[in-house]
Amino acid sequence: FAKPAHPDTVNSSASSNYLREKFTQLPHLAGTEQNLKYAEQVKAEWQEFGLDSVEMVPYDVLLSYPNSSQPNYISIVDELGNEVFNTSLAEPVPKGYENVPNIVPPYSAFSATGQPEGELVYVNYGRTEDFFQLEREIGINATGKIVIVRYGKIFRGNKVKNAILAGAKGIIMFSDPADYWATGVQPYPDGWNLPGGGAQRGNVLNLNGAGDPLTPGYPAKEYTHRLKLEDGVGLPKIPVHPIGFHDAVQLLKNMGGPNPPDNWKGALNISYRIGPGFADNFKNQTVRMNIHVNNQVTRIYNVIGRIRGALEPDRYVILGGHRDAWVFGGIDPMSGAAVVHEIVRSAGKLLSKGWRPRRTIIFASWDAEEFGLQGSTEWAEENSRVLQERAVAYINADSAIEGMYTLRVDCTPSLHTLVYDITKQIASPEEGEKGVSLYESWHKRDNWTGDRDAPRINKLGSGSDFEAYFIRLGITAGRSRYTKNQKTERYSSYPVYHSVYETYEVVEKFYDPSFRRLHAVAQVRAGLIFQLADSQLLPLDANQYADSLTKYAESIAKVAQKNPDEMKMYKVSFDSLFSAVKNFTVASWDFHERLKTLNRVRAMNDQLMYLERAFIDPLGLPGRPFYRHVIFAPSSHNKYAGESFPGIFDALFDIKNSAAPEKSWEEVKRQISIAAFTVQAAAMTLTPPA
Ligand SMILES: *[C@@H]1O[C@H](CO)[C@@H](O)[C@H](O)[C@H]1NC(C)=O
Ligand SMILES: *[C@@H]1O[C@H](CO)[C@@H](O)[C@H](O)[C@H]1NC(C)=O
Ligand SMILES: *[C@@H]1O[C@H](CO)[C@@H](O)[C@H](O)[C@H]1NC(C)=O
Ligand SMILES: *[C@@H]1O[C@H](CO)[C@@H](O)[C@H](O)[C@H]1NC(C)=O
Ligand SMILES: *[C@@H]1O[C@H](CO)[C@@H](O)[C@H](O)[C@H]1NC(C)=O
Ligand SMILES: *[C@@H]1O[C@H](CO)[C@@H](O)[C@H](O)[C@H]1NC(C)=O
Ligand SMILES: *[C@@H]1O[C@H](CO)[C@@H](O)[C@H](O)[C@H]1NC(C)=O
Ligand SMILES: [Zn+2]
Repeated sequence: FAKPAHPDTVNSSASSNYLREKFTQLPHLAGTEQNLKYAEQVKAEWQEFGLDSVEMVPYDVLLSYPNSSQPNYISIVDELGNEVFNTSLAEPVPKGYENVPNIVPPYSAFSATGQPEGELVYVNYGRTEDFFQLEREIGINATGKIVIVRYGKIFRGNKVKNAILAGAKGIIMFSDPADYWATGVQPYPDGWNLPGGGAQRGNVLNLNGAGDPLTPGYPAKEYTHRLKLEDGVGLPKIPVHPIGFHDAVQLLKNMGGPNPPDNWKGALNISYRIGPGFADNFKNQTVRMNIHVNNQVTRIYNVIGRIRGALEPDRYVILGGHRDAWVFGGIDPMSGAAVVHEIVRSAGKLLSKGWRPRRTIIFASWDAEEFGLQGSTEWAEENSRVLQERAVAYINADSAIEGMYTLRVDCTPSLHTLVYDITKQIASPEEGEKGVSLYESWHKRDNWTGDRDAPRINKLGSGSDFEAYFIRLGITAGRSRYTKNQKTERYSSYPVYHSVYETYEVVEKFYDPSFRRLHAVAQVRAGLIFQLADSQLLPLDANQYADSLTKYAESIAKVAQKNPDEMKMYKVSFDSLFSAVKNFTVASWDFHERLKTLNRVRAMNDQLMYLERAFIDPLGLPGRPFYRHVIFAPSSHNKYAGESFPGIFDALFDIKNSAAPEKSWEEVKRQISIAAFTVQAAAMTLTPPA
């Protein structure tokens, strides 16, 4: 059992075959028969590959589908009540897929049902700052209006939440070419840009980590008590619908009202006026949303496979990624699921040769990620007590590719060193980089700005299945994928994201024809799992955590110091936090010194494993009981982005406009003290037992 398995054991042609042959031929939305069939196939093959056990784990959760007898669309209505323009009911289906059944048309999952009618107000990306600008600078009130925003920059659920807060009675989201077109690239199928008839599906929940909206905190089993539908967590109370830019032009081109600020203008040949409503010549027209979406409790299936650890079977390393897709899932998620499949195959092959990892490895194929991370969250809830005792790390395996430029890693600070070590052992997948490591290629393409001479690693936000493991349970976590050049490629996610054009062909023709990039990501994910499962000493680095805490503390203190007078008046001080961070740094340094003269491996490994757990506050963040990590949370303004010291950050947010400054600054002080206590408490877990 000496050396952990090398990431080279994974094979690239296997991943591409899995992607093409097994997983992307048919639509497999969560809760449908086809996604159950794929679950059965995954289970059978994981058994064949030689895992010790594979089981199907069902839950009954709230999903949401369009009503097939009442299609969703938006219309322009004239003064006689005629619908003189209707948005399209479906995307043009790509060639070769014309006869495929069960392609769900673009819709916003969990939208309210209704037919609101009225004037449009255009609010750029629908971000918090966009609504502030609309209300405070432009002076337009969106109450009682239908808001129209472009997709991009932030999670769509945050746009919907902001529209509701502004009093809107409906919200339309469109994909603007400014955000979903790369320059010089053709629309699919000739290139990888989004065609004008394409639209982005997606859920519009504001769950804040709750999983199934009807069973927050508890697994959605048969016996579980369920909330009434009207009390479900995070369900929007207004209709929501996504459209492509061909349709968006028709809604936007005749709008009246003021011209927008320059940075509100997208790339369509229209003036992007803000409204409310149409220009004088079209004042006798209104907009009507016709939205019929049904929420229903539906059975979903996770597939869970295990390899029992040889020496520490009670320590778990988890590799999980989702299987459900909006349509074919060529990129999201099957490029990731194919990689997991290949890692399971290679682990099975190693087992057959006599290898067995030191710790238990758990592989998961999650269901209903697209409906709010439900499969992964329900399993985390059902197993929460065991996981908080035994889980060493969770590695996420959603889409393996979202661009063609370099590696992207988001992970907790204690994994930084391991990620760097692993990528130094992997070859760059790029053409013309023979003999160059993935680390070197990544470093050259995405250098961490500032004082670190290393490739950039990001904070974890949310938007995929690691959320419950990291932010609710405090399990060491990370994710990796191939990405675009963030400096020059300005579009959001990737152009065909969540559209019918996410096929196997978009990967094979454009993103990764040689499948070398997918292979590199497979090696990173496999490397993480094998090293975490097989190293005698856990490859986690508390010093990296200390380093990051120092930076985060300095950065949040700077935010507060933009208000020097108030800081003085209300006696706000960050001294306690800096003191705790200093104590943590000393404790982690001492800890790693003691590791060098190791004599109690299991005890010290447990200290490393439980370090992440120490950052959990059982009371959760204000108003977000399932976001319990004091150092990291999804931003309150964009679920996709990670925020450090989120409690302090949110208390400081927009504090200049607070109606009750004294109370607001009291809350800042309370949050600083919670952060200081938590970091100090975590430092104490690194000290010797007596
Ligand atoms: C779908 O629409 C039809 C036609 O209006 C209606 O009869 C049916 O009740 C709707 N289905 C659900 C589940 O609401
Ligand atoms: C829009 O759809 C409605 C309902 O099906 C229909 O009555 C109307 O004629 C359509 N309008 C156009 C311009 O196609
Ligand atoms: C917006 O309009 C609504 C009702 O029309 C009103 O209640 C609300 O106070 C207005 N908001 C602002 C900020 O003026
Ligand atoms: C933009 O729209 C204007 C007015 O409708 C039209 O005259 C012009 O040709 C359009 N420009 C492009 C590049 O399509
Ligand atoms: C709506 O107003 C426009 C411009 O004022 C006019 O040309 C058009 O005939 C009106 N439409 C109807 C249906 O009256
Ligand atoms: C990264 O940036 C650092 C400091 O800005 C610089 O010294 C180093 O050469 C850069 N590394 C690479 C590989 O570009
Ligand atoms: C840091 O450690 C010092 C020395 O033990 C202690 O006095 C101080 O209270 C600690 N800081 C915090 C925030 O607990
Ligand atoms: Zn996904």
